[in-house]
Amino acid sequence: MSEHELRVSKIRNGTVIDHVAAGQALNVLTILGIDGTSGESVSVGMNVPSGRLGRKDIVKVEDRELSPSEVDVLSLIAPEATINIVRDYEVVEKNRVERPERVVGVLSCPNHNCITNGNEPVASKFTVVSDGLRCEYCGTFIRESFAEHIDGS
Ligand code: CTP
Ligand code: ZN
Repeated sequence: MSEHELRVSKIRNGTVIDHVAAGQALNVLTILGIDGTSGESVSVGMNVPSGRLGRKDIVKVEDRELSPSEVDVLSLIAPEATINIVRDYEVVEKNRVERPERVVGVLSCPNHNCITNGNEPVASKFTVVSDGLRCEYCGTFIRESFAEHIDGS
């Protein structure tokens, strides 16, 4: 991409989540727990032109790397995403996301009576199946709209 086309500035250190399906950038921020109140520097590009996808979203988070469970949930809403680790302006690591077998934490079970929603310190656990996610404790199924079930949203 030429400098002329670059919409969002390069970052010095942090994580670039690239090739996110157009329209999913705000859900990516929710998954990462970013609402702007913690002072992180975050740049978001929405519906930017992309060779591979036509249009894409892109999220750049400075001075932060993602946890494995964040990456697992990300892969559900942005299966084509590329996660680039940037150090001193260089991309030092580039990973495609993979559909996980299981998602632990990050999402909450839609069943209010599920043990994961009580006062017990039990992390949510979902088995990933072809058409959605199944709570390992109560069997409740989440078919799509994963972003609505992100903890704290
Ligand atoms: N990037 C950034 N800041 C940097 C370096 C890279 O924001 N200091 C961004 C680039 O703008 C790009 C992404 O990180 O969106 C990946 O960078 P790079 O691997 O250089 O780009 P491409 O080769 O186009 O990546 P891909 O092949 O994954 O499309
Ligand atoms: Zn449950």
